[in-house]
Amino acid sequence: MARYLITGIAGFIGSTLAHALVEQGHEVRGIDNLSTGSLDNLADIRHAISFEQTDLQDVAGMKAACEGVDFVLHQGALASVPRSVKDPLGSHQSNINGTLNLLIAARDAKVRRIVYAASSSAYGDQPTQPKQEDMPPLPLSPYAVQKLTCEYYIQSFYRAYGLEGICLRYFNIFGPHQAADSPYSGVIAQFTYKMMAGDTPTIFGDGLTSRDFNYVDNAVSANLLACAAPSAVATGRVFNIGTGKSQTLNDVYAAIAGELGFREKPKYGPPREGDIRHSLANIERATAELGYRPKVGFHDGLRKTIAWYVAEHEKKAATTIEG
Ligand code: UD1
Repeated sequence: MARYLITGIAGFIGSTLAHALVEQGHEVRGIDNLSTGSLDNLADIRHAISFEQTDLQDVAGMKAACEGVDFVLHQGALASVPRSVKDPLGSHQSNINGTLNLLIAARDAKVRRIVYAASSSAYGDQPTQPKQEDMPPLPLSPYAVQKLTCEYYIQSFYRAYGLEGICLRYFNIFGPHQAADSPYSGVIAQFTYKMMAGDTPTIFGDGLTSRDFNYVDNAVSANLLACAAPSAVATGRVFNIGTGKSQTLNDVYAAIAGELGFREKPKYGPPREGDIRHSLANIERATAELGYRPKVGFHDGLRKTIAWYVAEHEKKAATTIEG
């Protein structure tokens, strides 16, 4: 049994990680400022974890959070490319200042290792596909710059202070509990939510933009493997966490529409600012050095995800009728 601190524990990936760790009998502490996460995501394990509502930028809060911890799984961030385009300073403060503050606290508390939720957006519009970790990064959006900057911080904290770190470059993670009701939500969540409400989603661009969509359980397994990996790979090393397959936005639309029986053709709008065109992971490094293998494929993951949104929708409808 080990002690884990999950930042952003009330978010979609953080809460899924928390469930997995609780199930394995580990001690889980979590922090979240609840700006985008929700305690609803932790309702069934709230009794089994300790939780503080704290911001990553809170110096005393991070000091207390890191005390006695073995592993930090750093998921907390203001995610979303368009949000960072709209508010670069706000997202900088959360994503960079918050991470630096956490790293200082983790160093001082002598945490064993930090596993960081990095982002494939760091590759930007690198023309070569699939993306490999040793390609020079070419970040486009402020969000991509922020996520990449924190990788460099993780590496420098290893070199300067010996704090072990692993950066997991998430490709587009999706699954149950991903918030769906904001313009900053992930595309699968938004499309599903809209189609369920009878609204036709808009595809930004021509629909041929593609992403390596990765089901959340695969990201959870990557985090657990990163904690178990030998120290030799915890030097701030970067790993792609995708599936090695990509889907276009047209494919995604069709797959969700097919599952939900939604018959309207998509609307098309202009491409979104800061967006990259194609994103596809080469996962050989993660496979070789961490033992990572994505167990849930896109279509299976999508079915589980849609089933969850439908069940949530029905629960809410039932509550409204009762109330
Ligand atoms: C996503 C993640 C980001 C992560 C990155 C890794 C989210 C919200 N963002 O960014 O945190 O670091 O993957 O690669 O999960 N789109 C539409 N219509 C919509 C909404 C989106 O066409 O209504 C398009 C976007 O323009 C984009 C694609 O769908 O081309 C994916 O967008 P999004 O889900 O926001 O993810 P990324 O920006 O790729």
